[in-house]
Amino acid sequence: MLDISHIREQFPALKQEVNQQPLIYLDSAATTQKPQVVINAISQYYSKQNANVHRGSHSLTAQATSQFEAARACVTEFIGASSPKEIIWTRGATEALNLIAQTYARNTLQAGDEILISEMEHHANIVPWQIVAEQTGAKVVKVPMTPECLFDMSAYNSLLSDKTKIVALAQVTNVTGSRQPIEQVIEKAHQVGAVVVVDGAQGIVHEAVDVTKLDADFYVFSGHKLYAPAGIGVLYGKLELLEAMPPWHGGGKMVEKVSFSGTTYSELPGKFEAGTPNVAGAIALATAIEWLQTFDQQAIEAHIHQLQTKTYNALSQLEDINILGYQPNASVLTFVMEGVHHQDIATLLDQQGIAVRAGHHCAHPLMDALNVKGTVRISFGVYNNLDDVDRLIAAIEKAVDML
Ligand code: ALA
Repeated sequence: MLDISHIREQFPALKQEVNQQPLIYLDSAATTQKPQVVINAISQYYSKQNANVHRGSHSLTAQATSQFEAARACVTEFIGASSPKEIIWTRGATEALNLIAQTYARNTLQAGDEILISEMEHHANIVPWQIVAEQTGAKVVKVPMTPECLFDMSAYNSLLSDKTKIVALAQVTNVTGSRQPIEQVIEKAHQVGAVVVVDGAQGIVHEAVDVTKLDADFYVFSGHKLYAPAGIGVLYGKLELLEAMPPWHGGGKMVEKVSFSGTTYSELPGKFEAGTPNVAGAIALATAIEWLQTFDQQAIEAHIHQLQTKTYNALSQLEDINILGYQPNASVLTFVMEGVHHQDIATLLDQQGIAVRAGHHCAHPLMDALNVKGTVRISFGVYNNLDDVDRLIAAIEKAVDML
């Protein structure tokens, strides 16, 4: 049985008041709050082990290196990768997607090749592909969504062709919480020889992922949406793809031997990890994963779905509120209010201590498809409870009366 009040107790940020009201944090899809164990892991690292990794010969560097590589092993197991060499540390999902675009894609795409991406993607999974398309003469092709804000599988099937070289899509979209059919998308893409990049930033926190079973060619995610700090993320790639890719950033650690007559590069994963990495971030990400694994993930999801359903049931009674692309059993809910700017609603909620995100959510094409400039998005985390929902609903009702 999940004890939400015990979980909530572990998040110091949730104990504060904002605008003289107890904070209700409903913006976990933007970033999650951090449990005390994760904060302690960062503080412990900087208080004790702090040293550069894979360099030097003193005890602290040995300890830091061992913890850093243990964190990589933790992530390897967490996502079902077959080797730690397949786990590259990045600053986050965005950097990982740019790395794939500028190494794998830039070196394999030719003029006329196509990159298929869904209409519902976050800018991080659109713009890197547009940049590499300009560099190579390849073309970014949009897979439309259905009127229910779902991935249009039949449009995808008809867009797939021998020109398709890369398919990139989010496991779960950040605005409506649609779970995209990544399993079928991967199977179909592989039939035409295309490589699939899955953006797991919003997905990995809500479901167990096994990249090997999934047969994803690349899978990326950010630590900060998984109760870990910002500035650390993961690029998973199949070993044979990563081996064949040239490096991206040049610098220390990614080289074997540097000389003016030619430089040779490190083995994986070092080849893609130039410069001093975010050691504390990697260690804290492993701490967050281990902390999350102490709970029954299905129970967490059932709890979050209960909160989302209750919110949906209440908001759908309000005449002026229009819920967009509602996905049952998701962790987010997105709405607009007739004749009222989304930011005004968010400001009114903030005055009552309630944090939500308002805006385009880094998804301009989806906003265009929905024919809105922006929305209000409520997103739930493991620490939210039914009281949070009651206060949110009361606050939105008040906003509807006022605006
Ligand atoms: N990608 C994050 C969000 O959806 C920032 O809010």
